[in-house]
Amino acid sequence: MNDHYRTFFGFTKEPFITDIECKEILKTPQLIDVKIRFDYVTRLGALGIVTGEVGSGKSTAIRYALSTLHPSEYRPLYITASSGSIMEFYRQLKDALDIYLKSNSKAVMTKTIKQEIANLVLEKKQKVVLIVDEASLMRLEVFAELHTLCQFEKDRKPWLPIILLGQTSLIDKLTFRSSLPLASRVIAKCHLEGVDLAGMEAYLRHHLSIAGLDRSLFEPQAIIAIHQGSGGLFRKANHLARGGLIAAAAQKLSVVSADHIRLAATEIF
Ligand SMILES: Nc1ncnc2c1ncn2[C@@H]1O[C@H](COP(=O)(O)OP(=O)(O)OP(=O)(O)O)[C@@H](O)[C@H]1O
Ligand SMILES: [Mg+2]
Repeated sequence: MNDHYRTFFGFTKEPFITDIECKEILKTPQLIDVKIRFDYVTRLGALGIVTGEVGSGKSTAIRYALSTLHPSEYRPLYITASSGSIMEFYRQLKDALDIYLKSNSKAVMTKTIKQEIANLVLEKKQKVVLIVDEASLMRLEVFAELHTLCQFEKDRKPWLPIILLGQTSLIDKLTFRSSLPLASRVIAKCHLEGVDLAGMEAYLRHHLSIAGLDRSLFEPQAIIAIHQGSGGLFRKANHLARGGLIAAAAQKLSVVSADHIRLAATEIF
C-alpha cells in the first residue's frame, strides 16, 4: 500500500508505528501500575509478573520502566524467551552479560553467570535486573530451575530481581508444583487489559500527535469501531487506525468514518 495518506493528512512521520521513542510512550494508568511494581521488585530483589493480552502494551510498559533507571547505576538484562531448553536460556543470559564461554556443562554455565552477577553488584556497584519477555513460551524445566539463579550467599542476597512478561498462560505455568520455588518469590503481579473507550480516544490522539497532527481525524463512531474491533488492545488499534486513514485518504475524505475502520478490519487478524 502506498504512503499517499501521509501527505494527504499532513503527517510529519508514519503514524501508529511500533518504533516510538521512550519519551513518546503514553503514560496510561496501566503503564504506571507496571512501573510501580517494577520499582518495588527491583528494590527488593524479588520476582514480578506482567501478563496481558497480545499487543496490550507489556513490552512498551517495561521499556518505559527501564528508561527511568539511571544507566550508570543499573545493568538491565533483557531476554526474549524461547521454547528452548534451560541451556538455551542460560546461553541467552550469558550473551546478555557479555560473557564469552563455550561450555555444555550446566554447572559451569550457572556458576559463571552467577559469578558475573556478583561481580557487577560487588565490584562495579551496579544493580542488576533481569527481564524475560515472552516468558509464557518457556518450558516447565526453565521455570523449575530459574530460582536457583537468584540464590546468592545461601539465598541471603537478593542480587537478581526478575521480571517475567507474557501471556496469561505464564500464570498457569507458575502454578505447576515444579515451578513453586520460583512462584514463591513473586511479590507483585499485574495484568494488562484492553483500555476503555476514553482510554482508546486518548491513545489515538496521542499517536496522531506523535506523527505531527494535533487534531483528531476519527469520527466518534470510528473511535467506537476501533475500540470494539481491537478490544481496547493497542497493536490491533494501531492497524485499524492506520488502515482507516488509508481508506479515507483513498476517497479523499479528511475524516475517518466507522465504515473506513470496518474496511480496514477486513485486512487484519
Ligand atoms: N503506552 C503506550 N504508548 C504508546 N504506544 C503504545 C503504548 N503501549 C503500547 N503501544 C503501542 O502498541 C504496540 C504494541 O505494544 P507492545 O508491543 O508493548 O505489546 P505487548 O503486550 O508486548 O504485545 P505482545 O503480546 O505481542 O508481546 C506498540 O508497538 C506501540 O505502538
Ligand atoms: Mg511484547
